[in-house]
Amino acid sequence: MPDIFKILSSHRSVRKYKDKPIPDDLLDKILTSARQAPTSSNLQAYSIIVIKDKENKKTLAHLCGDQPWVESCPVFLAICPDLYRLQKVCELRNYKSNDKYMEMFIVAVVDTALVAQNIAVAAEASGLGVCMIGGIRNNPDQVCELLRLPQKVFPLVGMCLGWPDQDPMIKPRLIKNAIIHNEYYDDKNFEKLIAEYDEIIKNTGLYDGPRRKVPSPDGREIPDDDYSWSEHTSRRMASQDPTTLRTHMKKFLLDRGFGLE
Ligand SMILES: Cc1cc2nc3c(=O)[nH]c(=O)nc-3n(C[C@H](O)[C@H](O)[C@H](O)COP(=O)(O)O)c2cc1C
Repeated sequence: MPDIFKILSSHRSVRKYKDKPIPDDLLDKILTSARQAPTSSNLQAYSIIVIKDKENKKTLAHLCGDQPWVESCPVFLAICPDLYRLQKVCELRNYKSNDKYMEMFIVAVVDTALVAQNIAVAAEASGLGVCMIGGIRNNPDQVCELLRLPQKVFPLVGMCLGWPDQDPMIKPRLIKNAIIHNEYYDDKNFEKLIAEYDEIIKNTGLYDGPRRKVPSPDGREIPDDDYSWSEHTSRRMASQDPTTLRTHMKKFLLDRGFGLE
């Protein structure tokens, strides 16, 4: 019996893969077991597109914001909330799917996220490395066209799967008490906990390289003194960059037939 606690706490995203295929029966086992994820009202409001074709992966790597690991992984998954299949089921039974509310969108997104994480855990338990790809929402119209997604289906997250050819650091997560609250929400130690975490992250050297550059209000670059998780994260959250913000998403979803009412 694999040690699930060890598997979960050893997760790190892998972005370099061996040039070695994933056997079909292993992939099938991962996807079949992952689909046993809990799902709201057993609706199973998602679809998964398995992509192995080199050209398709190359195009996707570009559409995902030029992420080379999307091309080099042996298997790339596009994991998609799907209200189209449910609409067709209703039609089959002579009903009209009342799926125009934001709540149904949330249901489909949660189902999709749960199955995605199950796939990641099953893959990692099998010795594979994974990297989830939110970049699949950078150019969602083109991705939908490439993957021939019908209306009411959209790529929420991609996932690279492959045999690891690197051993990246396990990134420490926030201090437990910054996230877990007993009985009620309590952030009285917030500053202390964030400072502690900043210190831990600083010592890993995680953000020594990829520091986000942001101009200060008067146009100067903000110096990198005291750069750690809170600075990195604040710069991410304060970003005005339309690619980072994916400002196209609301219009894209409405155009794809999601009601969001
Ligand atoms: C929904 C989601 C989208 C992500 N998108 C990308 C992505 O487009 N490219 C990438 O390289 N990593 C992506 N990641 C990986 C995160 O950067 C990574 O999980 C995070 O930095 C924590 O690092 P770790 O997974 O190594 O612990 C994504 C992760 C999630 C959960």
